[in-house]
Amino acid sequence: MDVTKVLVADAVDLACVNLLKDHGIQVDCKLKLTNDQLIKEIDGYEGLIVRSDTKVTRDIIAASNKLRVIGRAGVGVDNIDIPAATEKGIIVLNAPGGNSISACELTCSLITCLARNVVSAAASLKAGKWERKLFSGHELHGKTLAIIGLGRIGKEVAIRMQAWGMNTIGFDPIVTKDDAAKFNVSKMELEEIWPLADYITVHTPLIEQTRNLINKTALASCKKGVRIINVARGGIINEADLLEALEAGICGGAALDVFLQEPPTDETTLKLIANDKVVATPHLGASTIEAQVRVAVEVAEQFIALTGKSKTYTKLFGVVNKSVLKE
Ligand SMILES: NC(=O)c1ccc[n+]([C@@H]2O[C@H](COP(=O)([O-])OP(=O)(O)OC[C@H]3O[C@@H](n4cnc5c(N)ncnc54)[C@H](O)[C@@H]3O)[C@@H](O)[C@H]2O)c1
Repeated sequence: MDVTKVLVADAVDLACVNLLKDHGIQVDCKLKLTNDQLIKEIDGYEGLIVRSDTKVTRDIIAASNKLRVIGRAGVGVDNIDIPAATEKGIIVLNAPGGNSISACELTCSLITCLARNVVSAAASLKAGKWERKLFSGHELHGKTLAIIGLGRIGKEVAIRMQAWGMNTIGFDPIVTKDDAAKFNVSKMELEEIWPLADYITVHTPLIEQTRNLINKTALASCKKGVRIINVARGGIINEADLLEALEAGICGGAALDVFLQEPPTDETTLKLIANDKVVATPHLGASTIEAQVRVAVEVAEQFIALTGKSKTYTKLFGVVNKSVLKE
């Protein structure tokens, strides 16, 4: 496939640009374009690379005459109109494993922050207070962590939290009991999980089956004081139901890196973020130097593989719309 000219529309790490250039591919970086500007600019490029800022809409795809591949330097491809790309035979690919460790490490940090009230205690001390009794926490050792979604990130979280002495249980429709047991997770049905879990962390994509997965009914079946963590996608946990559970004391705390709407403006989301029992971060799961370099390089490697000219880079490991490859 000819990939001679690539447009980079978001701030991807320079490692991506350099690798493409080293392989004779022209790269133009034009950041912060509006939808209309991108519609004007896209023509003439065979490749487009974005992170999460640029929305690759049907209009943009329709305006492109030469476009053959769209790369997302990251995992989630919800900012790309995949049906529109697929209809035009355009490959959409991502960097599937590039930020797993970073997202996993943030999840584990948030679990420990919740256990020991680290964030509120630090804020209180900075405000000049000395409130040792108020911020007494509890140990993670011997507690049960439920992991919903046992893919790349879920599995890494399990392995790390086992080192803290947590029992790990979980659910995933495609991971078998035997496969889960290989990394010491007891696979169970969701209804069995809710009453056992002290902590619940979600690591699924946001799809129809996972939207509002943690809702009023699930929360009502949980142990009193259960802590909820979401470093996956906003919408997997129903925000209004979570807020209600926090206010009613059913939920003992929550750590949220992702929201239904980002940046959040909705009243419920803002109330959730402001709640004393909530630790909230602005979608930082993949925001590490290491992950940004890794995802940038993974996308560049696959673009080079598409040209068929490299002996080193030959694998297309992140194609999201595989049907296009068969055409
Ligand atoms: N906060 C961030 O910045 C950040 C960074 C990286 C990834 N993510 C998100 O984390 C999530 C997990 O990423 P990953 O790389 O581990 O993905 P993955 O594809 O490796 O794993 C996801 C797992 O979820 C499972 N799953 C699907 N439907 C399910 C359901 N109904 N119930 C339970 N499990 C279900 C899948 O079978 C799969 O094993 C994704 O939503 C991704 O977008 C967020």
